[in-house]
Amino acid sequence: MRIVLVGPPGAGKGTQATLLAKTLSIPHVSTGDLFRANISQGTELGLAAKAIMDSGKLVPDEVTIGMAKDRLAEPDAADGFLLDGFPRNVAQAVALDGILAEWGIELDGVLDLEVPEDEVVRRIAGRRICRNDSAHIFHVEYNRPAVDDVCDVCQGELYQRGDDAEDKVRVRLEVYHTETEPIIAYYQKQGLVTTIPALGKVDEVTQRAIAALRENK
Ligand code: AP5
Ligand code: ZN
Repeated sequence: MRIVLVGPPGAGKGTQATLLAKTLSIPHVSTGDLFRANISQGTELGLAAKAIMDSGKLVPDEVTIGMAKDRLAEPDAADGFLLDGFPRNVAQAVALDGILAEWGIELDGVLDLEVPEDEVVRRIAGRRICRNDSAHIFHVEYNRPAVDDVCDVCQGELYQRGDDAEDKVRVRLEVYHTETEPIIAYYQKQGLVTTIPALGKVDEVTQRAIAALRENK
């Protein structure tokens, strides 16, 4: 299956993508995680992306599209993938369609996670992420680690993302509304979008997502 996950910052895309990717046996491809890995490795791409990400704005398309294409060309993504955070504007969606057409494949569905803005703000404010693996995502209230600031999975240190500061979150939400939301209409024209409410417990949302993807097949 080839799926795109859409939703505002803090909707739970990373949380759900990790679980769905395991259930569906496809790789979770997150452009945010790819950028963060480049930043922690100090690569040229990471250096270029860091200031932009810290401001809450989008990294330029030419950088992002190339990075996503290279990742999707890796062997583990040959039979399917779950894209999280890409595409993030209509130009990226058009580019992705072009890449997939070049490879003779197409998307199976777009899953849109719907969460009210006040909940998104609460989720982001309490989020803590593991330094060793960005798939290890916690929340100080909703998904507390057994020991404060220590990852339950690998004992790594938990930290708060720089772009999770309140003023940056406001910019990210604005960017989501103006740049990312239009891709929902773009994919609706292709009959690919299923919207699910992403409120409730993490595993309830996962069940809803799996049911929606099966229905859409
Ligand atoms: P990215 O990393 O993609 O961030 P985002 O889209 O803002 O999404 P988040 O990671 O903030 O949230 P999420 O939806 O994954 O939520 P999570 O599962 O963590 O992008 C960051 C930046 O990179 C961008 O601003 C941009 O600069 C750059 N970038 C990335 N892709 C790009 C692209 N394509 N083009 C250009 N630039 C790009 O959950 C949030 C919290 O809620 C967690 O604490 C979690 O534990 C909790 N939670 C999850 N589900 C539930 C639930 N059901 N109930 C209660 N709590 C829950
Ligand atoms: Zn960890």
